Amino acid sequence: MTTTVLLLLLLFLLLMTVGWCEKLPNKSVKSTPVQLDKSYGKLYKHNQCHYMLKHLQDGEQISVHMPPDITGHWVSESCEVRPGPEFLTRSYHFFSNHTFQALQFYYKDNHCTKPSYTLLIEGSLHPRQASWLVRGGTKSDYQLSRVLLVSYSLPVAKDLQVKLEMACGLTEHLEPDISYELWVEGSDRDCTHGLSFSMQELELLRMERRFRPNEPERQAEELFVGDVHTERTQRRNHRPTGYQPPLQNIKTYVNSCVACQIISVADVHHPPVLPSRTDHPLHLYGNWVSKRCEVRPGVLFLTRHFVFHKESNIWEGHYYHYSDPVCRHPTFSISAKGHYSPGIPSTTVMGGTEYTFTVTQMKVTPMDVATTSLLNVFSGDECGKHSSWKQGFQQDVTPTSGCAALGIRLPHTEYELFYMGRDSAGHRLLFNGQRPTNGSSPDRPHKRATSYQPPLVHCSAGQKGIGTEGDHHFVLGNGYNTKPQGLVYALIVVALVFFVK
Ligand SMILES: *[C@@H]1O[C@H](CO)[C@@H](O)[C@H](O)[C@H]1NC(C)=O
Ligand SMILES: *[C@@H]1O[C@H](CO)[C@@H](O)[C@H](O)[C@H]1NC(C)=O
Ligand SMILES: *[C@@H]1O[C@H](CO)[C@@H](O)[C@H](O)[C@H]1NC(C)=O
Repeated sequence: MTTTVLLLLLLFLLLMTVGWCEKLPNKSVKSTPVQLDKSYGKLYKHNQCHYMLKHLQDGEQISVHMPPDITGHWVSESCEVRPGPEFLTRSYHFFSNHTFQALQFYYKDNHCTKPSYTLLIEGSLHPRQASWLVRGGTKSDYQLSRVLLVSYSLPVAKDLQVKLEMACGLTEHLEPDISYELWVEGSDRDCTHGLSFSMQELELLRMERRFRPNEPERQAEELFVGDVHTERTQRRNHRPTGYQPPLQNIKTYVNSCVACQIISVADVHHPPVLPSRTDHPLHLYGNWVSKRCEVRPGVLFLTRHFVFHKESNIWEGHYYHYSDPVCRHPTFSISAKGHYSPGIPSTTVMGGTEYTFTVTQMKVTPMDVATTSLLNVFSGDECGKHSSWKQGFQQDVTPTSGCAALGIRLPHTEYELFYMGRDSAGHRLLFNGQRPTNGSSPDRPHKRATSYQPPLVHCSAGQKGIGTEGDHHFVLGNGYNTKPQGLVYALIVVALVFFVK
């Protein structure tokens, strides 16, 4: 038993060390090419999807400065959706004296063409040390000094009036185009409750400089601030463990970003009105891959590849997990396969389409020593063949009804929300629902998302595409809710239990 305990502690230490190597202050982290062919298997070599996933890592060099210098003016690159749903655009100014002025423009519609009201938030912000929760992020302290509200129509003003009267006993009569103080430093009256307002997002920052091969002198600067809790009631206490869509520096955004231009010149009395568009019916068919290395609340880094087969309701999802924020060090990958229901327009989220997804088959590939050992320790009879895991080798875990160690049981059903859009360069984007922040699975209709994850971009798998399931190295899985962190805690628990015995 003591050997097991030692082994477990060793693994634990190993995992922790891996987690620490980026936590040094003032460090500039550069992503460098990495051998992906190894992890993506032979089949991926000749297709565009493979190229795009690989490109995430070595095509565009990203550098991250910790702590970041965020002085400047940052704007949304499109209409954003927050849980609720809320449709908004953001324009944040950070000054060199550590004060900030943030504008959040809220809308009635999912294309941000009909402004309803705006919040003007002032305060101060100090980036501190590397985050303990999210590798690659910087923890910050903020303080608010004032929050103002301006609405743009009588019905909206009336609606806000009701909310604010309940929240703080507002006595003023709200009128459109006039600004009202919802809260000011030192005051006892806090009307911001009424709007579930929170700036907890400023507790976590990450700034990326992205080298553009064709414009080497002009690096794109993107600012990520913390995520917003999917439960409205939890927003004010939420400590971010993921990010919202990045804000673009107004000095470096690409010219094709029309929204960036419009938002950058807007103010509280002239809210941005984005170009109107029509929503088209969803055509899921084809291959979709991540646009960037994604951060999942719950501290996961991953890239995804979805495949929807033509004229059938079969889907595949490939999830490549990593231990670092630029997706260079693979930990494990999951491939899932199953079927999905026909989509129906959402009545909750304008522009969204609802689906039900079921996972019936799953394969897992451990990609590093730590995960391989963990699977061997924990698999029992509930995750593939007991103690048979080898680094880099895939196992089908369908016969064991999933993988208990990764928290996945099969068959598994999820209630999904999808949306299809285009980026400023015209590429087709696919958004699927944000996972509940508390780490649970949207396995019942009432848990269906009301906002989205980072988008996937359409790609072509070519003739040798993944559609032909063959000997690929990695296969499907419901990578959504797995928490390697959970494994670490499980390890500690197991270690304790063994000690007691
Ligand atoms: C880290 O950066 C901050 C500001 O960016 C600077 O004040 C500080 O001296 C730097 N520390 C080291 C060890 O370089
Ligand atoms: C900080 O800088 C901004 C912009 O330069 C200025 O408007 C503001 O008054 C300054 N605040 C303090 C407290 O110095
Ligand atoms: C997590 O959140 C969902 C709604 O998003 C809720 O239904 C569920 O009860 C929550 N689970 C836990 C364990 O808090």
